[in-house]
Amino acid sequence: MPKLGVNIDHVATIREARRTFEPDPVAAALICQLAGADAIVAHLREDRRHIQDKDIQLLREVVKIKFNLEMAATEEMVKVATKIKPDQVTLVPERRQEVTTEGGLNVVSKRKPLETLIKALKREGIVVSLFIDPHPAQIRASAEVGAQAVELHTGEYANSGTEEQSKQELKKLMNGVKRVKELNLRVHAGHGLTYQNVAHVAAIEEIEELNIGHTIISRAVLVGLDKAVREMLALVRIG
Ligand code: PXP
Repeated sequence: MPKLGVNIDHVATIREARRTFEPDPVAAALICQLAGADAIVAHLREDRRHIQDKDIQLLREVVKIKFNLEMAATEEMVKVATKIKPDQVTLVPERRQEVTTEGGLNVVSKRKPLETLIKALKREGIVVSLFIDPHPAQIRASAEVGAQAVELHTGEYANSGTEEQSKQELKKLMNGVKRVKELNLRVHAGHGLTYQNVAHVAAIEEIEELNIGHTIISRAVLVGLDKAVREMLALVRIG
């Protein structure tokens, strides 16, 4: 059974829409922890569009389950991680214009710089995972540059337009998982998983961890809305 890492970025997205103090992603992390999540994931983006530096500092202090910091493979971010010391770093590709992480890291073409960054992170006792597409060459290169884990990108599976395509993408994912295990790396998966499509991926035995964000935060907004409106009505109607 895979562990569940909850990505809380989009709690901060709502906060940053007003640049205010609510909703607080740190409070959200504690609720996820209480609910039984196995890990908290936060992506500190170069443009700080959602999670802020202060958030990850506070998350490090209060999160008692695994804290997985997602970040770009840059020297600036390695400095941040070295200071914060998350339990795990997941290195992801990052482009300013993108709406969300698009595609996995190209480990094959960035071996040397990745090797150096990974060494620096591991020296601090941080477990390093690389977010990659489930392609044999990327998997092999991930082992060669010293990663301890890979997170296989489930976006292609999640975005499948037909059942046939979904089956094909699932097969690619399963083959990828097999290859990762042959290289003795830990295997995680995530991106684009929803309440509707998660079951087939969760059923892949060797996957140790699923990282899921947008769908959980989206559902939280809707399942919480009824209570939130009733609470406001109680205040409004007192007046
Ligand atoms: N894993 C990685 C590496 C990601 O970049 C993201 C998105 O931040 C996720 C998992 C979670 O994706 P989603 O929000 O679509 O569940």
